[in-house]
Amino acid sequence: MKKLLPVYKNESIPKLQSESGPQHPKKSFYIETYGCQMNVSDSELMTGVLTKAGYEITNDINSANVVLINTCAIRENAEEKVLNRLEHLNAIKRRNTEMVLGICGCMAQHMRTMVLEAAPYIDLILGPDAYRSLPQALDSINSKDTFVNLKLDKSEDYADISPIRKDGIRAWLTIQRGCDKMCSFCVVPFTRGRERSLPIPMLVKEVESLVDEGFKEVVLLGQTVNSYYDGTHNFGDLLFAINQVEGIERIRFTSPHPSDATKTMIDAIASCEKVCKQIHLPLQSGSTKILSDMHRTYTADEYRELVFDLRNQIPNLAISTDIIVGFCGETEEDFQKTHDLINEIRYDSAFMFKYSDRNGTLANRTLKDNVPEEEKIRRLQTIIDLQYRISHEINQKRVGETIQVLVEGESRKSKADYFGKDDTFKTTVFPRKNAQIGETVNVKVHTASANTLIGNVTS
Ligand code: 5AD
Repeated sequence: MKKLLPVYKNESIPKLQSESGPQHPKKSFYIETYGCQMNVSDSELMTGVLTKAGYEITNDINSANVVLINTCAIRENAEEKVLNRLEHLNAIKRRNTEMVLGICGCMAQHMRTMVLEAAPYIDLILGPDAYRSLPQALDSINSKDTFVNLKLDKSEDYADISPIRKDGIRAWLTIQRGCDKMCSFCVVPFTRGRERSLPIPMLVKEVESLVDEGFKEVVLLGQTVNSYYDGTHNFGDLLFAINQVEGIERIRFTSPHPSDATKTMIDAIASCEKVCKQIHLPLQSGSTKILSDMHRTYTADEYRELVFDLRNQIPNLAISTDIIVGFCGETEEDFQKTHDLINEIRYDSAFMFKYSDRNGTLANRTLKDNVPEEEKIRRLQTIIDLQYRISHEINQKRVGETIQVLVEGESRKSKADYFGKDDTFKTTVFPRKNAQIGETVNVKVHTASANTLIGNVTS
């Protein structure tokens, strides 16, 4: 097992292998984003920081003066993907010797300076709490040193920094950073530090500006979004407050933690007309024993009851989830409990993963990653097949219904079609005819697959 290196504060460390790098960083930047929506939101934040400092965004990686890779560390394959990509980036850097290459985000925080062993030509390593220092970091880069800032800072909420988003229909809004949950499998508390929330009045203002910029939908983001607490108000209060903002049409959020689901939150989803009737509620495992080893802080029965309460108060609520199979010590019987709970709850959709041992986590330090890889693969495939069947059946029931779809853009498969989402976040495709991007249209569904609804605009 690799040892974690100490956290480096705002300091430059010598490159493992010195190469000639840029002396005077110029002014165009390109950001490549991996991982979750929080990373998308962080890239928008970095865009805000750099634009304010006089840099200009470019879509051309080959000519960019600064290339930043915003990374994910959640599973080993997320890091492998970036490590593979780095070779290609180095080839670009060799052609464009002026280019500054930076690794940002969770993988930077997780691998720390070990990333230099794989890619000694990296000029910059920044953790998620260090984006404010980007312009200074770029100013201080020289050919010999790699600038490193991996300081986690509980007081850093970027409250004064305006993110710059791509134009569109849906805006991501970070309402909380960090995580206090300490699930034993998860690297996030180590890569993103402790939890902190932005105050409600500020977030309401932010949503008002999103409306002014033309956004129709806002997705509130937090690692455990419903543990939001600004010192006075909780997550339910925030939903009620944002629901009042004139002009915003839809409100979603991701991802809540089952243990932080409160009555106010359920009341808010049920009664706020703009809050979509859709929830992503990570289960992780259907076995109480495994949930306990995962430090999830709820039992399978408590989760069941929560789903029961949600469905009781919010008819037609769409529920999706995250599942991990093959966690340390997961027996066939434990796995069967997960399988059976998926079958019982009948999720609309699910993200399903094989357990990936992550350096520094509690499970990594205290439990054995003892489910063989082939068995992890078998279990994963079993629940993927199950969920596919369930999603297909649920979507088939929508055939014949007329649903309200917020039009997002051209369908990937045909220029003649538009796509959008309904309230439950189902992707819906339909011939564009007179529909306009950004408007909500009625679509009569005539065909459904496990992932998509297809129909025609009726008004
Ligand atoms: N291995 C596999 N899946 C993981 N997740 C988080 N950590 C791991 C890990 N070590 C999954 C969880 C989480 C989602 C974002 O990623 O299901 O909810």
